[in-house]
This record gives sequence, C-alpha cells and structure tokens, in this order.
Amino acid sequence: MTKIKETTVLVTGGAAGIGRLMGDMCLQDGAANLVIWDINKEKLDETTRELRAMHFSVHPYLVDVSDLAQVRETAMKVQSEVGEVDILINNAGIITGNSDFKDFTHAGIDRTIAVNTSALMHVTLEFLPAMIRKQSGHIVNIASAAGMLSNPQMSVYCASKWAVVGWSEAMRMELELSRSGVRVTTVCPSYINTGMFAGVKVNPLLPLLKPETLAALVVRAIKSNRLFVRAPFMVKLVPFTKGILPVRWFDLFVGKWLGIYKSMSGFKGHEKS
Ligand SMILES: NC(=O)c1ccc[n+]([C@@H]2O[C@H](COP(=O)([O-])OP(=O)(O)OC[C@H]3O[C@@H](n4cnc5c(N)ncnc54)[C@H](O)[C@@H]3O)[C@@H](O)[C@H]2O)c1
Repeated sequence: MTKIKETTVLVTGGAAGIGRLMGDMCLQDGAANLVIWDINKEKLDETTRELRAMHFSVHPYLVDVSDLAQVRETAMKVQSEVGEVDILINNAGIITGNSDFKDFTHAGIDRTIAVNTSALMHVTLEFLPAMIRKQSGHIVNIASAAGMLSNPQMSVYCASKWAVVGWSEAMRMELELSRSGVRVTTVCPSYINTGMFAGVKVNPLLPLLKPETLAALVVRAIKSNRLFVRAPFMVKLVPFTKGILPVRWFDLFVGKWLGIYKSMSGFKGHEKS
C-alpha cells in the first residue's frame, strides 16, 4: 500500500481537468504538500487560490513541461523549497486538433511528442533518484486508451500515448526487478468530460467518463498499488480482443459497431479563451 497521508504530491498539468481533481483528492487524503506544475498562469492562480482556501500546503509553479531547462530548474526549486516528492503524477497532456496525419505540421508533431511523451520521462528523471534512495515513492503516468488502440484523426496523439505505455511499463519492471520500492501506475482512460475532447462522439458502451470518477480511480490505484487503470470497463477488453481478432474483424467491431473510428469527427476541444 502507498500511503498518501503526509506525503508530498506533484501533479503536472494540475491546474485544471483531472490533474486538479487528483491533487485535491490527495490533499483530502492528508497529503502534506501539493505541488502543482502548469503552463496556464490564470488557471494555476485560480486553482491555488481555491485549494488554499481549504488546505495551506499548495505550491504552484508556472512551468512548460516540454522545456527541459525549465523542468530541471523547477525540479531543483521544488526540492529546495518544498522537499522531496513522494508521489509524482505525470498528467499534463495536449491534443492539437483532429486532422488526418497528412495535414499535420512538423511543429504539431514535435509539440505533441514533447508534452505528451518526452516530458514525462524528463520530469521522472528529476525525481526518481531521490525515490530510489529513500526506497519508496510512486509514479503515475497518465496515458490514454489511445495508447492501446489506434484511432483516426489522432495519429500523433496515439503515437505519443503508445510511447508512454511502453516506457511506463518497462520502467515499472526495472524498478520491480531492482527491488527499488518505487511503484508505477499506468493510466489508460477513454474520453473524459474535461473539455479536452469536447465534441467527440461516444458510444453507450464506451461512455464519456466523469472527471471525478477517473480521478478517484487513480487515487485509489495509488493507495492500492495497482499497475494499470483502464476505464471505462470496455477499455479493459482492448488488449485481449485486439490480440485474438484478425485486424479487419477488430476494425469492424471497434470501428464500425462501436463507432470509435469516427469519434473524432465532431471534435472541438477546449474553447479558446
Ligand atoms: N480528457 C480526455 O478525454 C482524456 C482521455 C484520456 C487521457 N487523457 C489524458 O489525461 C491528461 C489530463 O487531461 P485533461 O482532460 O484533464 O486535460 P485538460 O486540458 O483539462 O488539463 C490539462 C492541464 O495540463 C496543462 N498543460 C498543458 N500543456 C502543458 C505544458 N506544456 N506544461 C505544463 N502544463 C501543461 C494545461 O494547462 C491544463 O491545466 C492528459 O495527459 C490527457 O492526454 C485525457
């Protein structure tokens, strides 16, 4: 069991969406400090103000996780100003639109991979050595069901999340083999109602998840050292069905019957402020 009480928890992208909720839930579970990293100053200030009204120990840092120099500098600041991080939740992520790959820009590819993939590794590398030294800690990597299931109009997002699942699992195995005491949880949710994927079409078998439901599942997974969170239930069936069905049958089942391959056609995403 990983305890949350009296720990220091860092959530990247913690100013909004499920990041904010997971941070809040960790504070409610008795975390001593919540460190929030986010690129959005307005949301960071608002979330800090609101969470501080209930808990004193909220530490906001304005940082772009895709900028390695900022990540290294801010990690050093956190370690000297707040202390060692016990639970790291790599949550910040982006989707740049719903274009086919042929219409992607080079800048869009690089930005997606930098925020959704490379950043998780760079941030983890800053905090993992101290966790290994203490022989305790927990790293949560927020991937996506799109990290197990390819989907049209989100090819680069899928690539970024498949990479997270592969890396997260390999690191988990290494940390177990070396008896490090550090735990890893990989999270693969389908669409969540945070606004990030506003406009997508969902099937009743794969309903839009409530942000609170997913955040609570992740916090519970930290406490019970679960290796994976896959939600809703249908996502748990993906590895098995993909493994046993011929590709064309899988396309028919998931793409046509469940309508997933058309889910991005109505995508609008967050409203631009
Ligand atoms: N919403 C969904 O349907 C869904 C489904 C599966 C997985 N996910 C994943 O869950 C995570 C959180 O998603 P959400 O729906 O809460 O998103 P959100 O857009 O509501 O919140 C993301 C937060 O990350 C911050 N952020 C973005 N880029 C950043 C950067 N470069 N540096 C620092 N902070 C940055 C944003 O400012 C925002 O506060 C993401 O990794 C996303 O890919 C979301």
